[in-house]
Amino acid sequence: MRRALVTPHVGIGQTSAKIILFGEHSVVYGHPAIAVPLRSLRMRARVEPAMENDAQSTLTALGWSGALSDAPSHFASIQRAAAVATEFVGAPDARLALTTESGFPAQRGLGSSAAAAGAVIRAIFDAYDAPATPEQIFALTQEAEKVAHGRPSGLDAVATSATAPVHFQAGRTTQLDLTVDAWLVIADSGIQGSTRETVAHVRRQYDDAFEATSQCLARLGEITTDALDDLREARVEQLGAKMTESHALLSALGVSNDSLDALVSAARGAGALGGKLTGGGGGGCVIALAGTREDARLVEAAMLAAGAHATWSHAPSSEEVAA
Ligand code: PMV
Repeated sequence: MRRALVTPHVGIGQTSAKIILFGEHSVVYGHPAIAVPLRSLRMRARVEPAMENDAQSTLTALGWSGALSDAPSHFASIQRAAAVATEFVGAPDARLALTTESGFPAQRGLGSSAAAAGAVIRAIFDAYDAPATPEQIFALTQEAEKVAHGRPSGLDAVATSATAPVHFQAGRTTQLDLTVDAWLVIADSGIQGSTRETVAHVRRQYDDAFEATSQCLARLGEITTDALDDLREARVEQLGAKMTESHALLSALGVSNDSLDALVSAARGAGALGGKLTGGGGGGCVIALAGTREDARLVEAAMLAAGAHATWSHAPSSEEVAA
């Protein structure tokens, strides 16, 4: 390890929320996935030297403030991100004040743990004027994600740092140029989902009922591959139908619940072309595809009436996300 020669100054790091359009869970087994960064739902981290009277690094995040080492368990990936990044820049004993500010809810399948870890790592590199390649940032974010998820596929670490939609498979990322003229509606069920638990649940199913589970995962992968053609050809009806089929498969894997199913039904009842849970499931968010901005508004209203706590609409071909 090299020792940092510079005194840190204020460092800033930014990442964003993401949704998984196709391929959550199956991506863990080497199948492809497609994810879309929601660039206006930002995660920002700020790092500066700790106050003179602070004996150790501090964290201020999600309304909590205190010594970084005393942070509650849901901040474990931020602790790990700070540890690996300070080690990397050669300042493992640095006393820093870390602050994160998030424009989207945590534990809702929007990638907040990877986004927070990525933002903190970037802020620490910035504070030490340390250059880093995207591959190095990815590797360090994955270290932090292991604390949150166990064995993360890497999709969240990639998508929360991406500037465009991505195709991801077995660690390889390809940027996608989406020109589909449709709207994605995102609805927060208000229920916290634990990705660690749902990933472990699918793993148990895989071990106990190998044939059925691997078929289900393979079909999720096939849908993702076929969806690439639909995206290229802007076949929105087919994309919607594939989302709905994905939701049924994810339900069969046991990672949906009544609230998520109700939100998907409400969206489809209001004219959505399809819908599915997004991310780890067990709670968290649902996404639906709407043909026009006006349809998206109707779908949002139906999902709010069916119990959604918040909704956003996003045109995949732009950076805009309307709250
Ligand atoms: O729940 P999220 O946003 O962290 O997404 C998890 C995606 C999974 O495929 C379920 C896990 C993974 O490591 O890719």
